[in-house]
Amino acid sequence: MIEEQLSQMDREVQECTRCELYLKRTQAVLGGGNPFSELMLIGEGPGEEEDRQGVPFVGKSGQLLDKILAAAGFSKEENVYITNIVKCRPPGNREPNPEERAACLPFLMRQIELIQPGIIVLLGSTALKALINPEGRITKMRGKWITWNGIQVIPTYHPSALLRNPDLKKDVWEDFKSVVQKYREEIDPHHHSNYT
Ligand code: URA
Repeated sequence: MIEEQLSQMDREVQECTRCELYLKRTQAVLGGGNPFSELMLIGEGPGEEEDRQGVPFVGKSGQLLDKILAAAGFSKEENVYITNIVKCRPPGNREPNPEERAACLPFLMRQIELIQPGIIVLLGSTALKALINPEGRITKMRGKWITWNGIQVIPTYHPSALLRNPDLKKDVWEDFKSVVQKYREEIDPHHHSNYT
């Protein structure tokens, strides 16, 4: 049922022309990981490698994210579903603009309704602005829990920011420690992680 609906949505995004990003995409990238997860991660948009493979977070940022997730006891195979604010690659990896974000948001809202995550991690400023507050500052709001539509949401830095500025890693460690705690409180008290 969930898988069927995601496949249906995938067909829709592959044909989508709601914004100009379709002009330069190789393919749209709807999402990936386990759709039965309680933990959902939301990034910005596909990069070059994601556009080529049709899978989210498989490039350099994705590899770093996999390591962070593994240390927290999570993986895309087992207990994480991952997607992006926009499903098509912005040329040159620029930030998706407000019109592109708005055009794509209905897909994300349908994904959230289908997957019904208990916890959402917003990766970076674009995800924070698109979902929670267009004026939101990631530096101010990271690591702070927000209840949004009954879902526990925490913003943190995007892994690409960590690649540019490794000093931010300690903050993201802290934020994922907090995710592990919340996951134990809300989802699985026996969740195992290397953090705590
Ligand atoms: N960066 C993102 O925000 N999303 C991806 O899927 C890959 C890199």
